[in-house]
Amino acid sequence: MNYQIKSLDQIILQKIQSQKKISFQEFMELCLYNPGLGYYSRVSPFQDYYTNVDVPYFAQILSKIFYKLWQEEFKNKTDFKIIELGSGEGKLAKKILETIKKELPDFYEKLHYIGIERSSTRLKMCEELSALFPKKIEFLSEFNYKENSVAGIIFSNEFFDALPVRRIFKKENKIFEIFIVKNLKELLMPPSKEVMEYLLWLGSEPKEGCFGEAHIESRAWIRKLCKSLKEGALLTIDYGFETEELYSDFRKEGTLLCHFNHQTNRDFYCNLGKQDITSHINFSTLMKEADNWNVKTIAFKTQSQFFIENGLEKFIEEIPMIQEPKDRLRMTSSLKTLIHPEGMGGTFKVLLQKKF
Ligand SMILES: C[S@@+](CC[C@H](N)C(=O)[O-])C[C@H]1O[C@@H](n2cnc3c(N)ncnc32)[C@H](O)[C@@H]1O
Repeated sequence: MNYQIKSLDQIILQKIQSQKKISFQEFMELCLYNPGLGYYSRVSPFQDYYTNVDVPYFAQILSKIFYKLWQEEFKNKTDFKIIELGSGEGKLAKKILETIKKELPDFYEKLHYIGIERSSTRLKMCEELSALFPKKIEFLSEFNYKENSVAGIIFSNEFFDALPVRRIFKKENKIFEIFIVKNLKELLMPPSKEVMEYLLWLGSEPKEGCFGEAHIESRAWIRKLCKSLKEGALLTIDYGFETEELYSDFRKEGTLLCHFNHQTNRDFYCNLGKQDITSHINFSTLMKEADNWNVKTIAFKTQSQFFIENGLEKFIEEIPMIQEPKDRLRMTSSLKTLIHPEGMGGTFKVLLQKKF
């Protein structure tokens, strides 16, 4: 038999041929997650973006925030989980568990850490962590918890921005959806019923002459998380805005961006599977949907504000006590990186939602 190995370009073109058109969400899904060929299913020789996880002390700050939540609500209860969505290569999980094990042994004893990661390549890279933290950590490829079954914290760093989105455009006072047709050409068409339903529910749409994204998958995810939560918190760290800012008329192109070799571009139809595609998330979608499920917004702040109000000063107080000048410098510059309002501190937002 003659098996032919297909490239991602061929897979996408064949899907278009058989369906006549695909939505941007379907296109993004293939580019990022097609097994073996999508951006997140390969081991990339480079990391095309720099994230919180790469900054020392991010994991320590989060560990202290988790500890506080646990002390407030869970100390005397059993079956406490920390679930990380989109745990990637397990870098953050490792740092968090190292910190908790060393500095917060009472907490370590009680918790169970679960990483959820759909990329099998990335899941494989996490295997060694199970040996490092026996019976404390496991990795799953899907979030499949039953209704009202999770007690604990479900958190993510840059998970929602990696979910595929629909792309829309407003022209002559009408909303169109962007579909992809033969030869990877874009076509404006009347919106699908999914987009119509989402915009109606959201109560907003992009301004005249502007592109935008419809975060339908984010909404489905937050609904699934809320339904699973018996009691606990959702903590989401990501870049994005509320609807009004997201759909404002100075954001003509929407927020979709590709990251390739540390540079950004809007050439969505190039480097298929080799470049990251992301969009700013719509925090209003997360808050509005969660509200329906009795999961209330407790805080929605910039990362800078949230960290300052939730224990960062303890780390700042420690700086003068550090003996080695190079370690002092490392801590000062890491904290600055995490909270500088013109950098990660301002770009990233933290949404804390709770159900108790
Ligand atoms: C932008 S990366 C962030 C990784 C890590 N959290 C970080 O901050 O470096 C998004 C991650 O979410 C994972 N992901 C996307 N959709 C997912 C899903 N439906 N279930 C589980 N993981 C998913 C991707 O495979 C990828 O590893």
